[in-house]
Amino acid sequence: MPLARAWSVALIGIEGRPVEIEADIGAGLPGTKLVGLPDAGLREAKDRVRAAVRNSGQRWPDSNVTLGLSPADLPKDGSGYDLGIAAAVLAASGAVPAPKLVDTILLGELALDGRVRPVRGVLPALLAARRSGYRRAVVAPESLAEGSLVGGIDVLGAGRLGELIAWLCDEDGLPRAEPDHGRAPPQHPDLADVVGQPEARWALEVAAAGGHNLLMTGPPGVGKTMLATRLPGLLPELGDDEALEVTAVHSVDGSLEPDSPLVRVPPFVAPHHSISVAALIGGGTGLATPGVISKAHRGVLFLDEAAEYGGERLDALRTVLEEGEVRIARSRGSVRYPARFQLVLATNTCPCAPPRETECSCSPAARRRYLAKLSGPLLDRVDLRVRMRPVTAMNVAGGESAEPTDRVRERVVAARERAAKRWSDRGWQTNAEVPGPALRREFALPQETTRLLDRGLNRGAITARGADRCLRIAWTLSDLAEADEPAADHVAAALEFRDRRAA
Ligand SMILES: Nc1ncnc2c1ncn2[C@@H]1O[C@H](COP(=O)(O)OP(=O)(O)O)[C@@H](O)[C@H]1O
Ligand SMILES: [Mg+2]
Ligand SMILES: [Zn+2]
Repeated sequence: MPLARAWSVALIGIEGRPVEIEADIGAGLPGTKLVGLPDAGLREAKDRVRAAVRNSGQRWPDSNVTLGLSPADLPKDGSGYDLGIAAAVLAASGAVPAPKLVDTILLGELALDGRVRPVRGVLPALLAARRSGYRRAVVAPESLAEGSLVGGIDVLGAGRLGELIAWLCDEDGLPRAEPDHGRAPPQHPDLADVVGQPEARWALEVAAAGGHNLLMTGPPGVGKTMLATRLPGLLPELGDDEALEVTAVHSVDGSLEPDSPLVRVPPFVAPHHSISVAALIGGGTGLATPGVISKAHRGVLFLDEAAEYGGERLDALRTVLEEGEVRIARSRGSVRYPARFQLVLATNTCPCAPPRETECSCSPAARRRYLAKLSGPLLDRVDLRVRMRPVTAMNVAGGESAEPTDRVRERVVAARERAAKRWSDRGWQTNAEVPGPALRREFALPQETTRLLDRGLNRGAITARGADRCLRIAWTLSDLAEADEPAADHVAAALEFRDRRAA
């Protein structure tokens, strides 16, 4: 048979499309040609695959081989097509039977000696394959656990090209994935370690319960970083669909644990302020890889010393916060990655960052400039602001032990369930997601409840956006209080979170 086909998957971001790999063996001078928009890595594939085929005891055709990857207009990256290319050539030359190739997705890179190496993005690739009706896939053994997360598709592992050949010839079975039981719950640092700071602890609880973005301001050493790292421990586990979505991003990033790949726990990502914009947002050569903001998808993005990040990074974040995803334009088309995270910002009040504010040596203008770096438009998206002061020795010595994470999480989870149920038919999960117009019209509160807020609006003391933020927090406070809707007290308390803002 001079012409044969095999199937693989192209990934653009975490979206996959099946790719048909055709091999045609024609008369003519020996040589191998690859057509269909391959990138540089893929062009090397023909040399790699030829060596792997030879080193697996097979002959490479000594006539003209044309390899086509289609659809041709789809950008194709990387080395994951090796296995499919080898299979198509071997079927075309008659070395292996073709029937199994018709409905099998092949994903794997070949080493020169014929070993099959794992590739990134197996999970999103197989999700796409299943959507397109494929029921079987062969991957590297290291990818079996990841592949098995996709139900309804039979995932087999081949450690060497020879094993795939034997399976195509109906000789040997290939091993299947063991079901994944999920990784052991991670050990989060506990809130019981945090002394004092009742307001900031409460702000953290409210942020967790409503999914609100949070800004903590205060001198060094008061526990801002400590508190931020304790937020993921307060959040509920990811639901099944969310877990797959998050795992898909981490799969493309290549950061999954091979034995227990499913990401069940909201990620916590804390990039240093010197991070490049490409690493933050996504980028790199070829088709872009996900940035830190996408690795924080459905989790927490923590910017410590937030004022140091610079306008370009913070501006980029603002757009992402609005859209919940990032689009990265490449010469060969744009890539989309999800990026819906909870933002936590921590900052000193001034550049000299003294342990006590009375010891600050900065001019008032320098202090203003420093905080102005956290641009207004970004802060508009931060519902909660809390000012922290040094813990006094008395707090540390005398206080009874602080409430542990487990107890706080119970309240958070209950409040989140209330909110999710209330907004369920609108597709919102948390109060932070509810748009302003919905808060003001459909879910408007009685006038006597919002009197304080209305007065502030009329006096010009509160902006319309500020009022929306206040209402969102009021809903969260009422959820935490197990009330049906916010009362005037909740609105008043929500307003305090605004007024207690930075310097
Ligand atoms: N409220 C607190 N309770 C217990 N330890 C604290 C507290 N605040 C600060 N510390 C101690 O100081 C160290 C620095 O705290 P950190 O959270 O990094 O402060 P910040 O981020 O505000 O500069 C912590 O590792 C911890 O040992
Ligand atoms: Mg810190
Ligand atoms: Zn200062």
